[in-house]
Amino acid sequence: MQLSELYRQVIMDHYQNPRNQGQLTDAVSVDLRNPSCGDEITLQMLIEDGVVKDVRFKGSGCSISMASASMMTEAVKGLTVDEALKLGEQFRAMIRGEEVTDDELGDLEALQGVSQFPARVKCATLAWQALDRAAHSQDETHTD
Ligand code: FES
Ligand code: FES
Repeated sequence: MQLSELYRQVIMDHYQNPRNQGQLTDAVSVDLRNPSCGDEITLQMLIEDGVVKDVRFKGSGCSISMASASMMTEAVKGLTVDEALKLGEQFRAMIRGEEVTDDELGDLEALQGVSQFPARVKCATLAWQALDRAAHSQDETHTD
């Protein structure tokens, strides 16, 4: 099986069986819209002692955006907020087509082909943008 076919299957799996879909109570909530297409995502994140305890998303969007959101929630659960933000930086670098050597990327690597389609970059990064907002709005004392 070709690597690209494997990646395609990982993306479709996350799109068809999204992980961590739904809503949380008492969590930070962020609504974000991709201005290019109007697709929207709602991200909710529960943070305890600087750790992402739980994270859920809802939304409607293309397969790339929804698969990316599903992958993101899986990847950041259990990380500290700072680790999650750093992972987001790694992910964006990969999407920009940069060489990334990070074992932590896991399923996220399936989206690396997006770097060849600039119009899809926003689709792939929408959920990560929502994560950034949630992280920065939940903790006023957060220092970068
Ligand atoms: Fe154009 Fe996603 S915004 S393909
Ligand atoms: Fe709208 Fe991809 S086309 S998020």
